[in-house]
Amino acid sequence: MTTKHVLITGGAGFIGSHLADVMIERGFRVTVLDALLPQVHGDAAMDAEGWPVYLNPNVLRIKGNVLDADTFRDALDGVTHLAHLAASVGVGQSMTDILEYTRNNTLAAAVMLQVLSEGGHKIERIAVASSMSIYGEGAYRNAESGERAAPLPRSADQLKAQEWDLTENGAALEPLPTNEDKPLQPGSIYAINKRDHEEMFLSVGRALDIPTVALRLFNAYGSRQALSNPYTGVAAIFISRLVNDSAPLIFEDGEQRRDFVHVRDVAEAFAAVLESDKRIWDAFNVGSGKSITVREIAQVLARLLGKNIAPEILGRYRVGDIRHCFADISKLERVFGIAPKRDFESGMAELIEWVKTAQKPVDRSSESMAQLERGKLLV
Ligand SMILES: NC(=O)c1ccc[n+]([C@@H]2O[C@H](COP(=O)([O-])OP(=O)(O)OC[C@H]3O[C@@H](n4cnc5c(N)ncnc54)[C@H](O)[C@@H]3O)[C@@H](O)[C@H]2O)c1
Repeated sequence: MTTKHVLITGGAGFIGSHLADVMIERGFRVTVLDALLPQVHGDAAMDAEGWPVYLNPNVLRIKGNVLDADTFRDALDGVTHLAHLAASVGVGQSMTDILEYTRNNTLAAAVMLQVLSEGGHKIERIAVASSMSIYGEGAYRNAESGERAAPLPRSADQLKAQEWDLTENGAALEPLPTNEDKPLQPGSIYAINKRDHEEMFLSVGRALDIPTVALRLFNAYGSRQALSNPYTGVAAIFISRLVNDSAPLIFEDGEQRRDFVHVRDVAEAFAAVLESDKRIWDAFNVGSGKSITVREIAQVLARLLGKNIAPEILGRYRVGDIRHCFADISKLERVFGIAPKRDFESGMAELIEWVKTAQKPVDRSSESMAQLERGKLLV
């Protein structure tokens, strides 16, 4: 029997490093291929070879870029399973660094798939990281007719008038859990890149007869999240504000709903998909199945950090932001028999414990706000 060997691209990052832990625990050999992008790893504690200290000591490490076909081909040596997580991950930043995002995400996918299509490897299964951002707005129900709705983004006029909630023919729209059948309406270059990722991998995976699953991740949180990277998770950004005694900055009115899923639940979803022997080519949501408002997140974090700091509700908006999106996770449970295990409060408490042991996060919110303003993306 050949040893199961997974290559995790982006495996030095937040989710990839947790996936590496889970796969090692499950008896896989694990190779990590990561370019160690300075924006992600710049402020983290690194070892003498330049790898994050949190990375599992049992993983094989290759510092390299998936955009380089030879690097990727060489990394496939002996590999049976591929988890592709490497990406540039900032939604707002993708609207100003359009070429770089499309190169590092969509073109990188093309390079990898080209190499896979040329054969000479032993890949049996692929899991690729997609994102809830490809949905655009989540699913809704018309409060009067009861009909389901998949509304278009809010207009600039509506947002300028600070009318944050969605309506349809004058009737209120109530948010519903979003399932995988919701039409895709990606609202940023990052989201378009992720949709490309998903469709490219599913299409080529099918053609090569390699079972392939795209996981549409909702908002992941947990230890090892890049706290100083202003383009990543809102929880990390709020924590870096609060530990620096600044108020979390909230766009719109703070009532927008999201789905926060513990990184270990995300890693276990990847592991279940990679370990399964189902012959499947499909996309699945990975979320907690619960929703929380952005304002509530700021409040929970302030309480857990022991800071008496209320969030600052800006009443401003970012072009392309959606109002609500949270996951219907029943498909993943039905097909792969897995469900998330961690709850939000204890997960956040754990994240905070990690922050206390990590280097003091630098608050880069004003830099990212200035960049958004320059790009006319913050109104
Ligand atoms: N964190 C979330 O909430 C979330 C939500 C939806 C989707 N995702 C997706 O999950 C994946 C992992 O996200 P994350 O939060 O762990 O991000 P992260 O930034 O912590 O990790 C990404 C890793 O990929 C590496 N990388 C980037 N480009 C590379 C390249 N061209 N070649 C090799 N390595 C490269 C980076 O150095 C980094 O270590 C991404 O594909 C992201 O789009 C994440």
